[in-house]
Amino acid sequence: MSEFEINRRELLAGLLSVGSAMIVPSGRAIPPLPDDAERPAKVTEQGIGNVDLTLEINGEQHRVNQLAVNTTLLDCLRDHLHLTGSKKGCGLGHCGACTVTVDGRRITSCLALAVMQQGKQITTIEGLAHGDELHPVQAAFVKQDGFQCGYCTPGQIMSAVACIQEGHTSSDDEIREWMSGNICRCGAYPNIVAAVREVAQRSA
Ligand code: FES
Ligand code: FES
Repeated sequence: MSEFEINRRELLAGLLSVGSAMIVPSGRAIPPLPDDAERPAKVTEQGIGNVDLTLEINGEQHRVNQLAVNTTLLDCLRDHLHLTGSKKGCGLGHCGACTVTVDGRRITSCLALAVMQQGKQITTIEGLAHGDELHPVQAAFVKQDGFQCGYCTPGQIMSAVACIQEGHTSSDDEIREWMSGNICRCGAYPNIVAAVREVAQRSA
């Protein structure tokens, strides 16, 4: 009998002697997993719980029932309220496609929890125009040809509106700096800056 066969036989005997325990290279046995009843509660897609909440969006109350507490504001807007103007680009706070304003301040809604926005005033791109009348920033984007892909433009416009309200428009460099959280891969930046400048100068 070869040495290999002996060792193999000893190993099998060792395995049997510890039942369903596992032998690791160090020789220490890892205890078998407990029965299902003893396992910790599974993490589900619903996260750790659901809540009912009311959000004020574009001047209207929106009720959302049984929302998972870990739902982002962006997913709540898009998937639960069907306000799909805010876009999901990176989902990581890098691109600005999901920009909305909350109490007048811009946020990347992919990084904000919906449950944290109760009692606050949320404005999305759907809330800018009055019927067929475009918001001045929307009209300026059209006029200056800053309106390019449909993906990042809503976030660019939301950010531009807030940038003007904040007064960060004293120069093109300042506009660029305060719009820098919004990425435009097609290179419409000069047109976007022109649109912001136009509205800022008109409202100055
Ligand atoms: S989707 Fe929110 S920053 Fe990109
Ligand atoms: S307008 Fe969307 S990438 Fe430039």
